Amino acid sequence: MDEYDWRCIVAPLLAWYGAEARDLPWRRDTEPYHVWLSEIMLQQTRVDTVIPYYERFLSALPDIPSLAAADEAALLKLWEGLGYYSRVRSLQKAARVICAEHGGRFPMDFDAIRALPGIGDYTAGAVSSIAFGKPTPAVDGNVARVASRLAELPADAADPAFRARLTDALRAVYPAGKSGDFTQSLMDLGATVCLPNGAPRCDDCPLALLCQANIHGSQGSYPLKKAKKDRPVEDRTVFLLECGERVALKKRPLGGLLGGLWGLPDTGGALTAAAAADYLRTLGVSAGDLTSRPAARHIFTHLEWRMTVYAASCAAPEGQGLKWVTRDALSTDYALPTAYRKLLSL
Ligand code: ADE
Repeated sequence: MDEYDWRCIVAPLLAWYGAEARDLPWRRDTEPYHVWLSEIMLQQTRVDTVIPYYERFLSALPDIPSLAAADEAALLKLWEGLGYYSRVRSLQKAARVICAEHGGRFPMDFDAIRALPGIGDYTAGAVSSIAFGKPTPAVDGNVARVASRLAELPADAADPAFRARLTDALRAVYPAGKSGDFTQSLMDLGATVCLPNGAPRCDDCPLALLCQANIHGSQGSYPLKKAKKDRPVEDRTVFLLECGERVALKKRPLGGLLGGLWGLPDTGGALTAAAAADYLRTLGVSAGDLTSRPAARHIFTHLEWRMTVYAASCAAPEGQGLKWVTRDALSTDYALPTAYRKLLSL
């Protein structure tokens, strides 16, 4: 790490960023709320997906006090489809802390930013450099990959100790007055040029002549690949229950996966139609014949659901723990995680 001269990447990266920066809605100003919101949305989600969500969120909740005061259902609806719903809950918690403890103004101090709910080292570094011009690197997997190739560092891009050492090395070369641009130039290089999975576009890279991996043709060996763990598979049986215009929803238990969100009624296991009908009876649902729908899968970060799906018409909108809502209300008022929502259109 210390053998590489990190200073030499600054000027070429800034020049490249000046010419090639992606035109993204959160780059139109450096209002901390805007920067913060974009960084939270961009955790685990691609830029193209985030753009419409970002615009819609800010139209509905244009400032931190409106976020702090937002109704939970409306907030979840604005996030519907982005996944990782705990992010938006933490966002609101942080907005409330900002209102209660910082007079409604986003704090400028790095440690105060880092202490907010939902903000880790990466996000704190990004917001502090982009919104406040501080020399605080934001090292995520993309930036770690760029660095491991530049200096041929045999590191795992997810290793926290590596990220911490890289953060220190980069902090020492942050350009005064250009902190936000430097942070975002590294992000853009990782996202558009120094691509993962063996396909970096080194011919278009402003750092090609400064990159040890490019010089030695070893890009494919950096960063180190750690063996992927298999994702566990969980069988579930999911019900699409209709009563006239209404569809049954069930709140998911607090705390677990998609905790506290609305879902379709479901239960563990891949139930036969007979076992599924028994289960519905235990809920007190009087359903007609169950119709088998095509099975579906949904992949979460650490888990895959294999869903056996049954549809049924019900005589009455009843059943323990069920809420019956019209399809119109479902599309306008309820945030239904994608795992379930995609079953509605099958
Ligand atoms: N990914 C994370 N933060 C980003 C930003 N500010 N611009 C583009 N991509 C990003």
